[in-house]
Amino acid sequence: MPNPVESKSILLGVTGSIAAYKAADVASKLHQMGANVTAILTQSAMQFITPLTFQSVTGCKAYTDADLWGGEGHVTHIGLARSADFLVIAPASANTIAKLAHGISDNLLTVTALAAGCPILIAPAMDAGMYSHPATKENVDILCQRGAVVIGPESGHLASGLTGVGRMTEPDKIIAHVRYLLSRNGPLKEKRIVVTAGGTREPIDPVRVIANRSSGRQGYAIAQAAMDAGADVTLITAPTHLEMPVGCRVISVTTAREMLQQVLSYAEGADVLIMAAAVADFRPRNPAGQKIKKHSNLLVLDLEPTEDILAAVANMKAETGFPLRTIGFAAESENLIQNARGKLEAKRLDMIIANDISAPNAGFEVETNRVTLLFADGHHEELPLMTKLDVAERIIQQVIQWL
Ligand code: CTP
Repeated sequence: MPNPVESKSILLGVTGSIAAYKAADVASKLHQMGANVTAILTQSAMQFITPLTFQSVTGCKAYTDADLWGGEGHVTHIGLARSADFLVIAPASANTIAKLAHGISDNLLTVTALAAGCPILIAPAMDAGMYSHPATKENVDILCQRGAVVIGPESGHLASGLTGVGRMTEPDKIIAHVRYLLSRNGPLKEKRIVVTAGGTREPIDPVRVIANRSSGRQGYAIAQAAMDAGADVTLITAPTHLEMPVGCRVISVTTAREMLQQVLSYAEGADVLIMAAAVADFRPRNPAGQKIKKHSNLLVLDLEPTEDILAAVANMKAETGFPLRTIGFAAESENLIQNARGKLEAKRLDMIIANDISAPNAGFEVETNRVTLLFADGHHEELPLMTKLDVAERIIQQVIQWL
């Protein structure tokens, strides 16, 4: 399954800001993801960075105002505009934002933007005072009303030495937005997919919890793969150290009980629920209100079972018909297939992804996984060792086939 950026023609407008050096990173990463990236630099941008930088990282010609009248003649901008699937302007200075808002087209970038019918993403970068000026605010509002997506600027250290809102959003986040916006017409367009991820935490006292080794990577990879296919994704996540994926609805929970409530609420009307979270099976019966002291001699924890979320979802599905399809995971250290098949049947799933947590390079806290897919009709499919991203794509391919 190609990522939504692959083979797309992306124009990258670069304007006069010190953040122009970060635009080279945006160009390089989009190129590495398979996009055809053409940079257009304004005169001011060239005070900070050269066209050669962009040509070197993208393998494509980078354009400047010298191309507006010379070389390819008077239609350069029309050619660039019409062949583009997407226009990113990063960094976008206050001056360029003002020109775009008012249709001024006095250089190659602004005239191309005026001629372009493709989606536009703008990442402003300027000093805090310039960004908060009513003129800039109004210009940004005008662009948003016309359908441009404006991301940032962020708060932090500015070139002036001051701290404030004006820093360009970091390249990885800009790219995540481009990826999301280019994915919207995928095969799962308008399909509602709920994904759970991470390991729940059950409090013992205000300091201590019962947790597990789940990193959340597999669930986050599934959420990303579902978004790449165009789905409307809700990610219900227990605490993790991972970046929140751009474009999905993120619901943060801590305990199994909180996850149960959110899953039942979002799975209502959903097309697919994918339970990748490692949900605690037991919780302390009476969590202490104050920190338990060392000298309290508490050596045994009194536990009670948590709710089985997939069992509750199976009951909901029997009553309402939703979610249309349910996928679970089975983390096993022995009798993989037999145990997983038992869970698939007990929890009335359409598919279960069985993973042998004792195998090397698979299971918790690693980037790779070795899994077997078991289906409700009785067949199963063993997959080789692969990245969690590839496992996620395989699961989403199955979802596409179902829906
Ligand atoms: N699961 C759940 N609610 C729980 C525990 C697990 O919905 N309270 C889900 C998990 O998200 C996973 C599937 O059930 O998709 C199987 O989880 P797993 O921990 O492998 O199995 P358990 O049902 O907890 O059984 P056991 O611990 O005995 O292996």
